[in-house]
Amino acid sequence: MAELPPLDPKRIPRHVAIIMDGNGRWAKAQGLPRLKGHEAGADSVREAVRVCRDLGIQYLTLYAFSVENWIRPKTEVRGLMRLLHKFLTENEYELHEHGVRFRAIGRLKDMPKAVQREINRVTKATSEYTNGTLTLCLSYGGRAEIADATKAIAAKVADGTLRVKDIDEKTVANHLYAPDIPDPDVMIRTSGEMRISNFLLWQLSYAEFVITEECWPAFREVEFHAALAEFQRRQRRFGDIG
Ligand code: IPE
Ligand code: IPE
Ligand code: MG
Repeated sequence: MAELPPLDPKRIPRHVAIIMDGNGRWAKAQGLPRLKGHEAGADSVREAVRVCRDLGIQYLTLYAFSVENWIRPKTEVRGLMRLLHKFLTENEYELHEHGVRFRAIGRLKDMPKAVQREINRVTKATSEYTNGTLTLCLSYGGRAEIADATKAIAAKVADGTLRVKDIDEKTVANHLYAPDIPDPDVMIRTSGEMRISNFLLWQLSYAEFVITEECWPAFREVEFHAALAEFQRRQRRFGDIG
């Protein structure tokens, strides 16, 4: 077994967010259809949840399907939705075993009804767990999230429950999809792409970005530890001097 890169137990991040990218390229490199890449990616998700549980990382947020991803070919979108449904059904027991709470954020009403039902069921069944929180971003867009928050804030102003002069950063943060979850400490993107692709635009303000060369299906325990070791080498300043 490959040796795990050493980590400082005192500097384990509280919240890790991941753009799980490169499933299609991974499949292509093996001469497989893209959907096989998504299937293999589901195993990386299970492993990531286990690694977070082992290391005591409280929040893991995974970008699984963006608002933009709906423009992909119908067969791929349908395959992804089927896979997501299967993933929730087949892996619920692991969340119970680990004592990890499940959440989903995004424009969930856009998801197929059967997937929405699974999301609601697993969310409810795991809502009391405190060992960690797995959040899947589904039909998610950072701009859509900020627009939805703006709408909710404007509605409160219109009905007189909120005054314009009281609106500040906290007000905006409190109207995002998961206001109780702290901002990510580190954002990992696999497959070498150096862009944010509309992920958690508000919440990533001060996250460290770690870009890894492996595609998501090849991102397993060793690669996850290596990305966290890279995070631990960074000096966070939050606008202060070093
Ligand atoms: C990430 O892998 C999964 C989703 C966006 C749903 P991709 O499907 O984007 O794979 P590449 O980037 O085309 O290789
Ligand atoms: C970002 O990956 C979305 C998810 C991982 C769900 P994409 O593959 O859709 O991003 P772009 O299109 O390369 O920016
Ligand atoms: Mg991609």
